This record gives sequence, C-alpha cells and structure tokens, in this order.
Amino acid sequence: MKALVLSGGAGTRLRPITHTSAKQLVPVANKAVLFYGLESIAEAGITDVGMIVGDTAAEIEEAVGDGSQFGLKVTYIPQERPLGLAHAVLIARDYLGDDDFVMYLGDNFIVGGITDLVDEFRGNRPDAQILLTRVADPRAFGVAELDHSGQVIGLEEKPDRPKSDLALVGVYLFTPLIHEAVRAIEPSWRGELEITHAIQHLIDSRADVRSTVITGYWKDTGNVGDMLEVNRMVLEGVDRRIDGDVDTTSETIGRVVVEEGARIVNSRIVGPAVIGSGTVISNSYVGPFTSIAENCRITDSEVEFSIVLRDSSIQGVGRIEASLIGRHVEVTPAPSVPSAHRFVLGDHSKVQITS
Ligand code: TTP
Repeated sequence: MKALVLSGGAGTRLRPITHTSAKQLVPVANKAVLFYGLESIAEAGITDVGMIVGDTAAEIEEAVGDGSQFGLKVTYIPQERPLGLAHAVLIARDYLGDDDFVMYLGDNFIVGGITDLVDEFRGNRPDAQILLTRVADPRAFGVAELDHSGQVIGLEEKPDRPKSDLALVGVYLFTPLIHEAVRAIEPSWRGELEITHAIQHLIDSRADVRSTVITGYWKDTGNVGDMLEVNRMVLEGVDRRIDGDVDTTSETIGRVVVEEGARIVNSRIVGPAVIGSGTVISNSYVGPFTSIAENCRITDSEVEFSIVLRDSSIQGVGRIEASLIGRHVEVTPAPSVPSAHRFVLGDHSKVQITS
C-alpha cells in the first residue's frame, strides 16, 4: 500500500502567509503540520509516499527531503496548478500503479493517527473507504449521506441543505478502481476535479464505498482560526522541558518547553507554550497556547494564544492575542509624534487596531 500526500494547493484562506510559503509547513507547536501527517503514515506501516507539490515545491522538498527522517521513501509529483483533489490522483496514476493507497491532505490534522483505519481497510478491502466526522455546520464541507448499515449512498460538496452532519475528513482509502472514476468525471463549476464527484461515481457504479466516523479530533488547518485551535490542542499535550537558559528573575509555569539555545530574561512564561531555539524573550509575558519559533526576539511585550514563525521580532507593543505572525516580521511601536499607525503590509494582510 502507498500514500498520496497532497501538499500543493493555493492556500488562499491563509494569505498572506501562503504568498511566500507553503501552508502545510506552518508550524503547530513548532513542528510543520505536514510532519504530523507523515509521522502517522509511517506509523501505519506505509513507506512509499507520493507527494503532490505545486508552487511551493522547493520549500516542501527542502523540508521533507527524501523522507528518510520519517522512515519514508518520498517521490515528488509536480502539479502544474491546483486543479482539484481528483486531479492529484489523476497525475499520480503512474506512481500509484495497481496499489491500494491512502490519500492524505497535507494540511489536515488528525489526532490518534490513521493506523486503525488503514488496518480496517486492509482487513475488509472495500473499493473505497472515507473518513467522516460530525460537525456543527456541515455547509462548509463535503457531506456524506449514509444508509442504515453505514454504506455511503451520496456525497455533496459544500451543500446549502446538508443531508447529514457528517463531514469528510481529509483522509481517503482507495483501491485502483478510483483511477477509472477520476478519468470519468468533469471539472466542477470552480474548475476543479472534485474527489467527492469521483467517489460519487464509484457509488453510482455500485462500488462498495464504506465510511468510518471518527470520534477523535480532526481539523483542516486552512484558516487562521483553525490553525490557532490546532496549536492550542497540541500544546495541551506537551510535557514540560527546559533545555534553554531561564534567568533567576524569570518564571516558567506549567507545561512550558524552552528549547536549547533559547533565553528567557526577566520574563514570565505561562504554559502550555513552546519557545524555539535561538529565541530571546526579555521583559515580556508569553501566555498559554503560544508557539514562538526559532530565532525570534520578544521584548517588552505580551503574547498569548498565538503562533509566531521564525526570525520575527516583537518589541514594546503591549499585548498581542489570537495572532498568526509570519517569518521575518517586525512589530514595533511608532514614534509618539505624529500620532499615526505605520504599516508595511503584504497583500491580503489583516490588521486589527485597538485605538
Ligand atoms: P484545499 O484546502 O481544499 O485547497 P487550497 O490549498 O487551494 O486552499 P484554499 O481553499 O485556502 O485556497 O486543499 C487541501 C489540501 O490539498 C491542501 O494541503 C492543498 C492540497 N491540494 C493540492 O495539492 N492540489 C490541489 O489541486 C488542491 C485543490 C489542493
């Protein structure tokens, strides 16, 4: 069995971060979201991974390499444009050959891994198996309709009137039968080959399409709110570890990770929080559910429930909350006269000002 990991896409909902970098590499508790997925694929006993890459191919390849750091053998499959999840299957035809495979969306986050699911599929070997989760508002998702026995009888992409509250999770198990289905479908109104249409095609041709409803935690980290939420959830599970320097006027409370090479000076860190190596926190407060990546400077400031990517600096700006801050960002106070905000913001940036 192989895996097909989708790490291309446009990432419009995570702009401006995705103007310059891959959304699958945004860190959760200082580790790329994609890496959690690759680890669960390796845990499920799969070693051959086809990785779909788009405009951010170079960055993904630099981070993942040949996959050996995860115990995987990674082959890159370039996608000229994000033409849909079923298009990714279409272009991976030669790589996948006649093997069964798990398709994993590189920006999805599933607690508890996929080992049980893969084992179940290997045991029963239906034509396809999808993963579902109950959501409060299914209108933003692919939604499944099941019969009494749990067999999938219909799928709809972002329906106005959902037939159930069961949303598709970004992990799918397929036999080679899916290749006929992705060849048979037409692009949707948004110009993409939809995987829901391909699976519907299987259902219409009386294929055995089964589903598993997961009870564990799942999130598509496509937008900032979800990203912060996944970060919060992962940080809840970290163990306290202080490998960096914490001076005697500083305090670290609860589940705090201070990586080797990080320095905490006259500051208070309230966990759960992680501070990356090379980062210096001085005269500051870092509050719960915060991940600060490597080589950042936080000075005379307060940061809580936020993700700060590497090489950024925040100085003398009071309190920052619920924020996703990119790489090499500088946040500083303006001179007091004239009293004005001064910005250099990339396309699609979002700024909220308190005064
Ligand atoms: P989506 O989140 O559905 O799409 P997107 O990345 O274009 O994001 P947005 O809606 O914010 O513009 O994609 C799910 C995953 O699949 C994500 O990791 C990107 C990847 N993907 C591809 O690799 N190729 C594709 O053609 C598409 C549509 C997505």
